[in-house]
Amino acid sequence: MPSTVVVGAQWGDEGKGAVVDIYAAEADLIVRFQGGNNAGHTVFVGDEMFAMHLVPTGILRGKTCIIGNGVVVDPQGLVAEMRDLEARGVKVRENLLISENAHLVLPYHRALDAAEEAGRGASAIGTTLRGIGQAYADKYARCGIRAIEMTQPDLMRQKLAANLAQKNALLERVYGCEPLDFKEVYSEVAPACEELAPLVADTPVIINRALDEGKRVVFEGAQGTMLDADFGTYPYVTSSNPVAAAAGVGAGVSPKRLDAIVGVVKAYTTRVGAGPFPTECPAELAEKFRSQGREFGSTTGRPRRIGWFDAVVVRKAALLNGIQQLAVTHLDVLDQFERIPICVSYRCDGERRDIFPNSLEMLARCEPVYDEMPGWGQDTTGAKSACDLPPAARAYLDRLAHIAGATLCMVRVGPRRDQTIIVQV
Ligand code: GDP
Ligand code: IMO
Ligand code: MG
Repeated sequence: MPSTVVVGAQWGDEGKGAVVDIYAAEADLIVRFQGGNNAGHTVFVGDEMFAMHLVPTGILRGKTCIIGNGVVVDPQGLVAEMRDLEARGVKVRENLLISENAHLVLPYHRALDAAEEAGRGASAIGTTLRGIGQAYADKYARCGIRAIEMTQPDLMRQKLAANLAQKNALLERVYGCEPLDFKEVYSEVAPACEELAPLVADTPVIINRALDEGKRVVFEGAQGTMLDADFGTYPYVTSSNPVAAAAGVGAGVSPKRLDAIVGVVKAYTTRVGAGPFPTECPAELAEKFRSQGREFGSTTGRPRRIGWFDAVVVRKAALLNGIQQLAVTHLDVLDQFERIPICVSYRCDGERRDIFPNSLEMLARCEPVYDEMPGWGQDTTGAKSACDLPPAARAYLDRLAHIAGATLCMVRVGPRRDQTIIVQV
């Protein structure tokens, strides 16, 4: 397939980074199309762990990588990430381009994220405090600053000064916070922008040309379908569209050019931050998952909330993304369980409900209905092919693929590259 879109089908952290890393081995170009450095995509190269935030994971394979127009870029965060990778021997600047049209996340966005979260009190969203929502708000309010401005320092300075005056008024008068000092902000941001300016390019031209030439392009999604601003558990969502359709808008390619849609799911479910989570387990059970699955946020280090696989969620994700192929990660974490519940539907107001509701009030009245599958009680972490997996594990995977209405393409049984089973490409 010339182009493949990889998306998360739950609440993020499904293992998209690790899955993209496998596809990237055969690809020419890897493109991030939404989100920002709220993402944390973990890839192991040998025993070395890399947590990627803005730089597409393909950089670890020495491939050309693009930060698309749909991404919000924190210049300081990106420079820090690039330097960290370079200090570890990864070639970054040689292989990385940033879309001229990508919007920037600036210090006032982070300050406002913190102020708004504090102002929400008990109903805080639990954001990553990276200023993501505030940068997207400016984009759509048409007052954002774009990557192209990094190549025009005078214009950048002017826009920064005008925006900061307005944001300081908000910070001081609405939130009662200290204003930010323009000189300080500028002296933090300007060197990062100068360093990134040579990487800024008209990326849709490059991506479309690559597709014209039959090159293989992987579109790397961030977050997950249930965090989608349109389709997720609003307002407990992120401020972009992690669904596959956003790859077209966020990279500047026609939807006709998106060939394969790969959905990534964990063999169970996790969520970081606040918001509804119907299959969430009690703390003691969550701890059993957490130790094997290392379930701590890759960006914030927060412990992830954990629950059983929720078919209602994944059916919704399959429908919204048009998932054709399913990659299942973290199968190994279920090795320890004798019985494995799957939530097959919800019970709401005495009736069965198969479709995830858009109303949080209705969702709060939904109780998961479980069907139990037998566990396999056997270590799967060394499995190299589907034949090495116990029959009960294969039956579980078939069930998940059936739920998604998709073909199982990949199974992962641990965090390392060699713990990947390719079922069908
Ligand atoms: P992403 O944001 O979707 O890329 O996922 P994250 O990297 O945030 O979270 C996935 C976590 O699980 C990381 O710590 C990975 O190293 C780890 N991981 C990925 N696949 C597997 C797997 O199959 N089994 C186990 N045990 N860990 C995995
Ligand atoms: P990856 O790409 C999991 C969550 C936050 C919070 C909500 C809004 O690694 O899967 P934001 O900072 O985006 O305004 O926070 O979204 N969130 C993620 N959860 N994985 C992510 O990314 C996430 N990015 C944002 O925890 O609940
Ligand atoms: Mg993550």
